[in-house]
Amino acid sequence: MLIDIITLFPEMFAGVFGESIIKRAVEKKILEIRFTQLRDFAFDKHKHVDDSPFGGGAGMVLKPEPVYRAVRDVLNRSDENFSRKIIFPDPGGEVFTQAKAKSLAAQEQLIFVCGHYEGFDARIYDLADELISIGDYVLTGGELPAMVIVDAVARMLPNVLGSAESAATDSFFDGLLGFPQYTRPREFEGKIVPEVLLSGNHAEIKKWREEQSLNLTRTRRPDLLGVRS
Ligand code: ADE
Repeated sequence: MLIDIITLFPEMFAGVFGESIIKRAVEKKILEIRFTQLRDFAFDKHKHVDDSPFGGGAGMVLKPEPVYRAVRDVLNRSDENFSRKIIFPDPGGEVFTQAKAKSLAAQEQLIFVCGHYEGFDARIYDLADELISIGDYVLTGGELPAMVIVDAVARMLPNVLGSAESAATDSFFDGLLGFPQYTRPREFEGKIVPEVLLSGNHAEIKKWREEQSLNLTRTRRPDLLGVRS
């Protein structure tokens, strides 16, 4: 999968993409991540990408032309036959879910356009295939949401997770919270590992885990039970 990130702050991504599973996916060429500096597409000599809002008010608004030119440039450097989505992280978008991560993982290319300041000039939203929010709070820009979405999508791609990290046992994988896990020691601070997990009876263990997932979901996130996909 090809990931393009249009941003004023590409350095923000180095830590998250330079470690662990995402780093390995890039090394294995399952993922290619390219950054496009939005400021390179400013057209005045001072490289302004933002301006004050018409109608007055605090803050600055990202000008439409640099964003448009940056997206066009990314598209010109992309395979025209790729299936793709252009995503604007936006607190007013559809709230990101595991189901959305799974559907985005079916694309060949994702292009993220990360805003900052008070947002984009409204005329640029026509470029977006998706506005995605990562939750009902306002962040300072779209970079953290883009990292969150890339992380969740990347781990759904074939061969990104090792067998020891299977997505099949994730919380939300089947619309439920994950079951509790235990490892050695068998007793810790007087608390013991449930007997069934030591039984070697795989059918019983599977049944216990399913019950635990359902019970946990019922008590902690009953809202999920209405929306199982
Ligand atoms: N930009 C600012 N806040 C955001 C949020 N919660 N989700 C996505 N993009 C954002």
